[in-house]
Amino acid sequence: MASCYYSLLLLALLSQAVAAKLSQDFYSCSCPKLLPIVRKGVARAIKNEARMGASLLRLHFHDCFVNGCDASILLDDTSNFIGEKTAAANNNSARGFNVIDDIKAEVEKACPGVVSCADILTLAARDSVVQLGGPSWEVPLGRRDSTTASRLAANNSIPAPSFNLTTLKSNFASHGLSVKNLVALSGGHTIGLARCVQFRSHIYNDSSIDASFAKSLQRKCPRGGNDDVLAPLDFQTPTHFDNLYFKHLLLKKALLHSDQELFNGSSSTDKLVTKYASQNDAFFKDFAKAMIRMSRIKPLTGTKGQIRINCRKVN
Ligand code: HEM
Ligand SMILES: *[C@@H]1O[C@H](CO)[C@@H](O)[C@H](O)[C@H]1NC(C)=O
Ligand SMILES: *[C@@H]1O[C@H](CO)[C@@H](O)[C@H](O)[C@H]1NC(C)=O
Ligand SMILES: *[C@@H]1O[C@H](CO)[C@@H](O)[C@H](O)[C@H]1NC(C)=O
Ligand SMILES: *[C@@H]1O[C@H](CO)[C@@H](O)[C@H](O)[C@H]1NC(C)=O
Ligand SMILES: *[C@@H]1O[C@H](CO)[C@@H](O)[C@H](O)[C@H]1NC(C)=O
Repeated sequence: MASCYYSLLLLALLSQAVAAKLSQDFYSCSCPKLLPIVRKGVARAIKNEARMGASLLRLHFHDCFVNGCDASILLDDTSNFIGEKTAAANNNSARGFNVIDDIKAEVEKACPGVVSCADILTLAARDSVVQLGGPSWEVPLGRRDSTTASRLAANNSIPAPSFNLTTLKSNFASHGLSVKNLVALSGGHTIGLARCVQFRSHIYNDSSIDASFAKSLQRKCPRGGNDDVLAPLDFQTPTHFDNLYFKHLLLKKALLHSDQELFNGSSSTDKLVTKYASQNDAFFKDFAKAMIRMSRIKPLTGTKGQIRINCRKVN
């Protein structure tokens, strides 16, 4: 209790002097139950469907890459507003919105009007990784929610699986992320699934793919077949967060073109891929660091934005 008042006082004093800043204990006075509520909500969702951990991790990534981590991706379209849900990378693809709604409802019950949807999504991404066996890290908090969203920005800011190493690097650089961050964060593809339409060209047209791996995927994903057939991004353990994704890159068994771009035998990122493939600890450490850095992309703080009551709509 004493430390709670002390940090409140400190926060009040600091906010006079400097721009509001994210901090781990942002809600420790105002919503002490936040972390367990999110953790349990994520555990429940993953128990119900193991893939959901992957979907929540990706949702946070797609939020942060479009005008910062501000929950813009969670806004529904209305009759006079088009949001990000139908942008190229999200339409028929982004999922997990109901899980965030359920967690938000519980958080609202415990601490009404206090916790942002952007922070809930950031915590849910971390808890998903932990729940599936990956690393943990302290999440800086204090983001606020946007009052708008942009489909155009979403179309232009989220990298596509057709990207080559050069365009992947420049996309990440445009978000303030390094080449090391790019390689570590791509390790997020150690969990989850992708649709045929996203990897068809890789399995039919690329030379940088193991022939028998390509053949087996071609059976699942025929030319002119159903675009929505799913395949695991990590063909061995798609619900376990580990470094197998990187081992697969060494074998030319990546599902997406963009994944295999990180390792081709002579690219600048080969060394990092090789390191993460052989040292799980190094991958976990760099992934956690990169997640924190991604979560700090252009947050709304202080009096900017709002604390949405319903994550799907502006107050
Ligand atoms: C480097 C550039 C990236 C590209 C080009 C890319 C592309 C994709 C594509 C095409 C899919 C499949 C979507 C679908 O078929 O509907 C996907 C899924 C996924 N991505 Fe990425 N991604 C990238 C980076 C990341 C990052 C940084 C993360 C998180 C740290 C991430 C996490 C995921 C996860 C977990 C899934 C599976 C989601 C699910 O099963 O619901 N991706 N990504
Ligand atoms: C989104 O996906 C649905 C279902 O596949 C499709 O009918 C619709 O045209 C798509 N919208 C956009 C904007 O691509
Ligand atoms: C964004 O991409 C979608 C799907 O490809 C497309 O239908 C839409 O016209 C694009 N919207 C904008 C504003 O760029
Ligand atoms: C990467 O893609 C960009 C955009 O499509 C293209 O201009 C560039 O030549 C490509 N670079 C390499 C090395 O293939
Ligand atoms: C493969 O490349 C050819 C020639 O560029 C193109 O016509 C075809 O649509 C591509 N196939 C797939 C499955 O992407
Ligand atoms: C590997 O990728 C690099 C960088 O994109 C490129 O310069 C090189 O030609 C590629 N090597 C092979 C063997 O495809």
